[in-house]
Amino acid sequence: TETALIVVAAGSGTRLGRGVPKAFAQLAGATVLEHALRDLGWLPARIVVVVPSGYEADASTIAARAGVTAHVVTGGATRADSVLAGLAAAGEVRFVLVHDAARALTPATPFDRVRAALEAGAVAVVPVLPVVDTVRVVDAVRAVDVAAPAGADEALGAIVDRSTLRAMQTPQGFDAQVLRRAYEAAGDARADSTDDAQLVQALGEPVVAVPGDELAFKITTPADAERAESLLSQKER
Ligand code: C5P
Repeated sequence: TETALIVVAAGSGTRLGRGVPKAFAQLAGATVLEHALRDLGWLPARIVVVVPSGYEADASTIAARAGVTAHVVTGGATRADSVLAGLAAAGEVRFVLVHDAARALTPATPFDRVRAALEAGAVAVVPVLPVVDTVRVVDAVRAVDVAAPAGADEALGAIVDRSTLRAMQTPQGFDAQVLRRAYEAAGDARADSTDDAQLVQALGEPVVAVPGDELAFKITTPADAERAESLLSQKER
C-alpha cells in the first residue's frame, strides 16, 4: 500500500479522569479507540495503532472488533515519541496520515480532503477550524496546566485577533519522507511539539490547510466525553 495511517492512542488521559488511558475509556458501550477505528476500514492504508505499554493485546482485540487490520506498537512518553514509534512500523509508503485516537468521532470527509491534497502534490496537509472564542495571551505564565481553570495568578495580556487563528485537527497528512526528515531534524526538541505539521514547517516545507470538521473534536475533558456520548447515542438510534 501507498499510505500508512498512524493512530496515536498512547496518551495517559489524565484530564479525562477515568483512571485508564484515554483511548481505553468506555464511551457509549465501546472504547474510544474502537470508535476511532470503526469507520476507517474503507481507507486504503496500512493502519498502525500506537498504545501505552501493556495495552497491546487489548488494542488488537479492539481493532478486530472495529473491523480493521492493525499493526499495534508501543508508544512513548510524549505524543511525538508515539508518532515516531508509529513511523518505525509504517514501512515503505508514499504518504503517512497521523490521527489522534482521541478524535474518535472524526467522519470520512477530512480523511478524503487530506488524501486529495496529498495526491495533488502537497507535502503536508492539516485540517483546520476557525477559532470561535476570543483568545488572549497571558503575560505572567505559571507552569501552564490547560486543564486547570485560569488561575488568579495569571495576568491577562493582549487579545489575539481571532480572524488570524486556526485550530489544528487531525488526520494530518504528509509525504512520508518529509515527515521522517522532520522528525530527524527535530531530534530531542520533538518532545515540545504537539503538532506534526509544525515540525515539517520547521524544515521550511509548505503546510497547506483544508477544512476540518466539528466532529473531529478531541475528547480531552469529561465534558468532551459527554458530548461524544450524546452524539454517539443519536447516531445509533
Ligand atoms: O493529550 P492529547 O489528547 O493532546 O493527545 C493527543 C493524541 O495523542 C491522543 O490520541 C493520545 O492518545 C496521543 N498520545 C500518544 N502518546 C503520548 C501522548 C499522547 O499517543 N505519549
